[in-house]
Amino acid sequence: MSRSSRLSNIARVASGVPMLTRMGGIARRLSMGEEESPTYLPSRATASSPNLAKACAASLENSGLERSSNKIAASETFRSGRRRRRASPDSNGLPLCLLQHLLILFCSMTGEIAPALRAVSPRKPGIGHLLWRSEQKLTEMAATTQTNLENDLGYAERAAGPCVFVLFGAAGDLTKRKLAPALFNLAKAKLLSDNFAVIGVSVDDLGLEEFRSQVTSFLPVGTGSADTLEWFRKRLFYERGDFADPDTFTKLRERLASLDGEQHTEGNYLFYLATAPKFFAQIVQQLGAAALSRQENGRWRRVVIEKPFGHDLDSAQTLNRDIKNVLQENQIYRIDHYLGKETVQNIMVFRFDNAIFEPIWNRRYVDHVQITNAETVGVERRGGYFDTVGTLRDMVPNHVMQLLSLTAMESPVSFQADAVRNEQAKVLHSIQPLSSDDVLQRSVRGQYGPGLLGGERVSAYRAEPGVSRESRSETFVALKLNIDNWRWAGVPFYFRTGKRLALRHTEIAIQFKRMPFELFRNAPFHKLHTNTLVIQIQPVEGISLSFGAKVPGPLLRVGSVDMSFEYSKYFGADAYTGYEVLLYDCMIGDATLFQRADMVEAGWRVVDPVLDVWRALPPRKFPNYASGSWGPAEAEQLLELDGRQWRRIEP
Ligand code: BG6
Repeated sequence: MSRSSRLSNIARVASGVPMLTRMGGIARRLSMGEEESPTYLPSRATASSPNLAKACAASLENSGLERSSNKIAASETFRSGRRRRRASPDSNGLPLCLLQHLLILFCSMTGEIAPALRAVSPRKPGIGHLLWRSEQKLTEMAATTQTNLENDLGYAERAAGPCVFVLFGAAGDLTKRKLAPALFNLAKAKLLSDNFAVIGVSVDDLGLEEFRSQVTSFLPVGTGSADTLEWFRKRLFYERGDFADPDTFTKLRERLASLDGEQHTEGNYLFYLATAPKFFAQIVQQLGAAALSRQENGRWRRVVIEKPFGHDLDSAQTLNRDIKNVLQENQIYRIDHYLGKETVQNIMVFRFDNAIFEPIWNRRYVDHVQITNAETVGVERRGGYFDTVGTLRDMVPNHVMQLLSLTAMESPVSFQADAVRNEQAKVLHSIQPLSSDDVLQRSVRGQYGPGLLGGERVSAYRAEPGVSRESRSETFVALKLNIDNWRWAGVPFYFRTGKRLALRHTEIAIQFKRMPFELFRNAPFHKLHTNTLVIQIQPVEGISLSFGAKVPGPLLRVGSVDMSFEYSKYFGADAYTGYEVLLYDCMIGDATLFQRADMVEAGWRVVDPVLDVWRALPPRKFPNYASGSWGPAEAEQLLELDGRQWRRIEP
């Protein structure tokens, strides 16, 4: 539906259709070296259950899996697809992961779940996934038409190639909290080239030493990283300048040329726009005018653009047009930090590297999907900015759409950037456009009032610094979306996202359908169960699956149990910011984890009708939820109207 016909509908709808609110009624091998082959179940299980151990050992042997000294080369499962398949040469096609699952399922039924999970390889923490992903991608891409992955990225070294990282907005918060620590972590992991330098650019009047100490004071310098700190510090440079002034860019060009000479950075520049959005188009235009964007003679020039990318569909299209006047699409890296999260990247691995889930990942088996993105923080020091944006723009076209598209997309034909992004774009384009009536019935907005959080009294959104006392900006959004394709037709995707909610928690819950008839309808239910697969994004990172089980005892009673996997227990704690993989990927020219122009616009296309209706019909009863709650009552009603309810999320 066009914007104008949508707008003209709004007035009609506003008078005729009751609003919902009135009806009463969402590694592997870090530099750390080779990982050990993990010890598997049989030996561990022996102590507590000899029969179980025998059964497991027999099952492994029967499947033809290699088992020497109770070790199987399971670490292979995390390496390239080809090697993984070779790890079980005689397994008659039964994947190792399926066996693991069956084993764990079997053990859980016999109360052996804990030893089984313990026995499955604990691993060291790290950003080895960078290496693993690169290796896998390199293998696969050799067979495809990958264009700009560094040809010279050596397997032996794996560091990114020479380049200068030009950081616009270098004195800002993002540099301190995320970018500098992420670059330093890459340096520690030896993933930066020796021929590497950073130039910070901002309007602040800083001397070189001042800039260096400002940046290094935020680095996660642990024991043993003093040498790396010195290595990193010496590669930091600073250039003061106003982004509107062409002189800034002339000076920058000269500075870069001299750094190329001193640091051998070979004319490769990564421009990172960590600035206010109003500077994005301007900086790109200035880079073009100063001849800093041209790629020639094997030198690359790339530009990373932070969010928000526009404030609606029109402005996103305009920004895309402006930057594409200067840059080619393959030079543009639109960043969404959610794609740097391990658990978000794992959605693809989980779905497409395990044969057992894909067959049931569709409308035949899935009842609905719930995405919850709850924050306990308020707007903190960003009140002035946030009040002009609101949660819908801040979270939905970007982060929520990433979670949704990775959950709902079809399998890409390879892990090449465009193959993955084509599938994400396709599913975003399949989201049923919301009419004005739909917006009124399927969307909920809220704003937090005062309340109790973690035992402390916290103030209302309207009392936050920089926020208008009459503000009508939303700090909570819930929405129901439908996806019009063969896989998902008729399966609603609900999501809710908000600030100052009861818990910090982000998850994607796949709610499977009930069984076709209730065989155990006469058995007393200890606890009502549903089959739910939950992908936990943060703060706990993991996956859990709940299913029904007989409660032990002489009577037949049915209960609900969980099988769960937690990243930290399995792989160890991760001290990374989430930006490491994204920065590294920019340096090697891999755009898989970045948004393409069409994806960004598709996200805005979903949100635009909601923005229009909400603008035309301002909220009447803000604030409408207490800090520390799960949002406005209307969010509960959104699901209740469909005979469903949000998952109860507990600490
Ligand atoms: C940012 C939003 O993009 O994401 C913030 O602008 C929000 O308002 C943040 O708090 C949430 O990120 P995370 O990684 O803490 O979930």
